[in-house]
Amino acid sequence: MTITKEDELEGLKAIGRIVANTMQAMAKAMEPGMTTQELDDIGRAYLAREGATPAPEASYNFPGAACISVNEEIAHGIPGPRVIKAGDLVNIDVSAAKLGYFADTGATFRMGTVSPALDQLCRDGKRAMQIGIAEVGANKPLNGIGKAIGHFAAKRGYTLIQNLASHGVGRALHEYPEEIATWPNRDKRRISKGLVLTVEPFLSTGGLWADQGDDGWTLYSAPQAHVVQYEHTVVATERGAIIVTQAG
Ligand code: CO
Ligand code: CO
Repeated sequence: MTITKEDELEGLKAIGRIVANTMQAMAKAMEPGMTTQELDDIGRAYLAREGATPAPEASYNFPGAACISVNEEIAHGIPGPRVIKAGDLVNIDVSAAKLGYFADTGATFRMGTVSPALDQLCRDGKRAMQIGIAEVGANKPLNGIGKAIGHFAAKRGYTLIQNLASHGVGRALHEYPEEIATWPNRDKRRISKGLVLTVEPFLSTGGLWADQGDDGWTLYSAPQAHVVQYEHTVVATERGAIIVTQAG
């Protein structure tokens, strides 16, 4: 969507805060021995209490309130009987709607202590997202996002998953301008004033593509490698990006 009025920004910020708080509540509740289903139940209850509807379920019939992806699963993981263990990387992606506004956020969390290399990957994954967000602004080139993230990734010896794009959001989970690459690309479009979009690079230690698993949802890295994802929903303004998926 494109924000033109203050009340639209308020509506978007309201659902942005809810998805961010839900994700944080889930991450805080996460402990070894818990199943991803139990973790999803916590998120579902939190969203319900806030009057919000899980978007993956409502929009795509996804079998869960949130996408929970562990280790080799890189996105769209289905909550279920999988037990979370110490040392796991757990990606929690929460998108939801309230009063017609949609917001989307995600992050990869460390279950306890992980190896220094994975710890660094997580910190760099968040950094990659922030570098992309810094390129968001009214009238800026849309491919500035992927250019900056690609430069950062290459410098640190990482790869980017190149078929999981960022997207427009706001009145639907995925909408105009549809696919926004977070890797170097030749997109000639510009970011219009007030545009609402996600920035969600998938930073990896070698992965280039996401392949779908047998369940029809879960995505895996090809070639197999560690992958992290950090995602915010932002609004493009003349003074840069406003991050709407802020916890608080
Ligand atoms: Co998401
Ligand atoms: Co998204």
